[in-house]
Amino acid sequence: MVSDFNIFDPSLKNDPLPILSELARTAPFVQTLYGVESLILARFKDVETGYVDYSRFSSVKPYIPGQETIDYFKGKTIISFVDPPQHTRLRRNLAACLSPAAVRALTDEISVLLDSALDRLEAGGDGFEVVSAFTHPLAVDVVLGVLLGVPREDFGIFETLTEQMCGLADLKPGDKHRKSYDDAWDAAQAYLENIIAGNNDRLGKDKIIATLVALNREDQALDSEELLLQIMPLCVAGISPISSMLASTLLMMARYPDQFQNVRDNPELVNGAIEEILRFDPPSMFSPRYVKGDFTYEGVELTDGMPVYLIVGAIGFDPTVYDDPLRFDVTRPVKPHVIFAKGAHTCLGMHLVRLLARLMLGKVAVRYSSIELVNEGGLVSYRGSPQARDPEAIYLNLNRT
Ligand code: HEM
Repeated sequence: MVSDFNIFDPSLKNDPLPILSELARTAPFVQTLYGVESLILARFKDVETGYVDYSRFSSVKPYIPGQETIDYFKGKTIISFVDPPQHTRLRRNLAACLSPAAVRALTDEISVLLDSALDRLEAGGDGFEVVSAFTHPLAVDVVLGVLLGVPREDFGIFETLTEQMCGLADLKPGDKHRKSYDDAWDAAQAYLENIIAGNNDRLGKDKIIATLVALNREDQALDSEELLLQIMPLCVAGISPISSMLASTLLMMARYPDQFQNVRDNPELVNGAIEEILRFDPPSMFSPRYVKGDFTYEGVELTDGMPVYLIVGAIGFDPTVYDDPLRFDVTRPVKPHVIFAKGAHTCLGMHLVRLLARLMLGKVAVRYSSIELVNEGGLVSYRGSPQARDPEAIYLNLNRT
């Protein structure tokens, strides 16, 4: 039954379609999750309301007994967990670095990276595991190198911190984080301290770290911890969704060979194909919110501080928005959606991930006549934080044109 589902159940990630499509047709309801009454919003219009109406649905987690917050950020917060106006200040500079024009300017650099990553794959011979051999290393190159401007030999500092931070998803509410996390944090902070002091001439010019340091010199001094708090969301919210989105694109083209052939025959379908993959197989499951004040929403009585789960992974299956939503169809007319959220917290990486996925699919459609999935039984397992859906291993054969 839909009311029995548990959005934190990791096994849900492997085959979420039946439950997501049922949720997308279900009016808001309250469910007890870990002993706390929580609101589930999954229809397109309810998820959209949850994202835009921050006067009633807040991103700031209140104190909830039994669900004590883990101190990820040494008593500070980051862009994702604050409401406007504090949020507006934190977002302003990052948003400028990731605007449509700023991302468009990266097209050639990303195209070269994609070509060489595909060449390397082919040089490795037939058959490979796509996440470890292609999409994850590419996502690291794009976020740390192309966006942040970290020289390759220093990637390890931020990769380790990102892994440690993602590993915190295993902790129970209120747990202290591990020493390995503190060590990774201190190493990254020391690295940034050196940059702020002007002692790193290998850092990419005009890239995000250099831009934030320069902007804040004009505005007000930014210390190394504040700089780390600004760039970590890009690593944590960027690397794994990029990798998952690219892997999902290849997986869907392998699972639906007729649709891949259609993209090959009609390259103008690439953009629509990427929107269809975002609708049908997105890398995100839900976003958390908290009720602000006492009020009634769609007949459900809500109380101040109640957790809210916006089941964004479900919206693509809402039959009031999409005809025959269980059909995967790259020719489906593109409609505005909220897979990247909407309003104040709209995803900062959406222009980048769209650019990358479109470029990759365009290149793959020219290079390869077909993609074969060789996982046993065609099954793929998923992992990641409760909010994410990251494929574990996808074995593919790419057949050259
Ligand atoms: C297909 C891939 C992606 C999807 C589906 C996605 C989805 C989302 C969603 C739904 C949110 C809103 C979360 C909330 O309000 O609670 C969000 C926020 C965010 N995303 Fe993405 N994302 C993707 C890729 C990326 C990438 C590649 C980056 C960075 C390079 C990124 C950076 C961010 C940041 C920094 C935020 C917080 C924005 C804010 O709070 O103002 N995302 N994303």
